[in-house]
Amino acid sequence: MDQKLLIYATQNILQEIEEGIHIINREGVTVAYNEAMEKIEGLSAETVIGRHLLEVFPNWTQENSTLLMAMTHRKPVRQKMQSYLNLKGKRITTVNTTFPIFEGEDLVGAVEISKNFTDVTHMSEKILDLQAKLVNPEKYKFQVRTHYTFEHLIGRSPAFMESIRIARRAAETTSSVLIHGDTGTGKELFAQSIHSASSRWDKPFIAQNCAAIPDTLLESILFGSVKGSFTGALDRPGLFEQANGGTLFLDEINSMSEELQAKLLRVLQESYVRRVGGQQDIKINVRIIAATNEDPFELMQSGAFRKDLFYRLNVIYIKIPLLCERQDDIPLLVDHFVRQYNESLDKDVWMLSGEVSQWFKDYYWPGNVRELQNFIESAMNMVTDEHVIGREHLPSHVAELLRGQTYSAGAKEEMTPRGSQTLAAFLRGIEEKEIERAMKLNGGNISRAAESLGLSRQNLQYKLKQLGSDLHG
Ligand SMILES: Nc1ncnc2c1ncn2[C@@H]1O[C@H](COP(=O)(O)OP(=O)(O)OP(=O)(O)O)[C@@H](O)[C@H]1O
Ligand SMILES: [Mg+2]
Repeated sequence: MDQKLLIYATQNILQEIEEGIHIINREGVTVAYNEAMEKIEGLSAETVIGRHLLEVFPNWTQENSTLLMAMTHRKPVRQKMQSYLNLKGKRITTVNTTFPIFEGEDLVGAVEISKNFTDVTHMSEKILDLQAKLVNPEKYKFQVRTHYTFEHLIGRSPAFMESIRIARRAAETTSSVLIHGDTGTGKELFAQSIHSASSRWDKPFIAQNCAAIPDTLLESILFGSVKGSFTGALDRPGLFEQANGGTLFLDEINSMSEELQAKLLRVLQESYVRRVGGQQDIKINVRIIAATNEDPFELMQSGAFRKDLFYRLNVIYIKIPLLCERQDDIPLLVDHFVRQYNESLDKDVWMLSGEVSQWFKDYYWPGNVRELQNFIESAMNMVTDEHVIGREHLPSHVAELLRGQTYSAGAKEEMTPRGSQTLAAFLRGIEEKEIERAMKLNGGNISRAAESLGLSRQNLQYKLKQLGSDLHG
């Protein structure tokens, strides 16, 4: 009974499951072929079951059929991506896992599990095509030009000037550069500036973010692909070829998989690329600038970043300081962005109010320069014909954020926190303490105490009376 149950269950699973399933026996004859597989390959189970594999699929051979290979080698073939025209002429991309089936020691057949990736692949293809169009060599002059030069980098604090000094020196060489900076500190600006100041300035500058792109896709984006390779793509140059003679900026290099890191290293060492699925080595001459927002030394220690690649990239190391580490640059940046938005938004702002300036100074700027720029931009959008940006121009959440920060900064400087007191009561408390102190210092002499406080005798007398009545009344 249990045996029967198992058989029925298996039959049901075969029909319900989303993956295509194809089972052959030891002779290579199909014994099961489910509905999902019918859809993928465009064949009906009737035509396949009971016939030999190579009879049904004339293009397959003993060597290229994963099912037959799994049997010959008596080993599974896992997660193999395949792209082919199915019998209806439709291009299909699947990821297959194939394994032999044994009864004890005896090989009795093989099964293939096929996941349909056609739609996903189709989308990736579109992205690649768009990208290829964008960096079309004839057009790159307009599209892949850098916008930024060292003149655009605002900041005069020593730590920042040191980063600029190293970056300027990098521009004179073709060595690899590794830029390390927190989000919004200006990594891309630095990369562009180095390119613009280098002898490659009239060649392409291409930026690629390495985060959030599946490995295989990133690989063919970087190295290109050849017609008939697994993506089923047309011949397509990768970014290394497209950036030839120029600079390739690899942003968020820390999120690249270990395997791809190894491939990248090989390309950098040999100065040749081979397109995915291709046979030919193509000579390239590309300057690499890589960026990371995590500490590369720590990444290397933890094993997330390959040491060999790290040393290859880290020929010139540029660390960009956090904005809160270069507070003196804040007014310069504010001024810069105010001018910029005066122009683009057609406003006439001159400065920040004293209060907002102070907030800016005390804030810790987790989003660095980009955050500061965003705050200015949103405030400038609220300005009508005023010349000063005040708290009323800041979105309320921004004002909250900035103000919250100021209080804790105040507390750090050991000012008595006002707590829940009203401002008047708080100030009265301070006044009271100061008067008491002056009276003590002057041995109770009202005239001298008044003088030291910069008050008239009458005024101090009046205040003393008030304090007295406050105290006693
Ligand atoms: N020193 C600077 N002078 C002027 N503008 C700057 C400076 N640094 C950054 N910016 C501005 O801040 C924005 C963010 O800079 P960028 O894109 O280079 O940062 P990033 O380090 O690449 O950030 P992320 O890690 O988030 O990608 C830019 O749009 C630029 O306008
Ligand atoms: Mg960036």
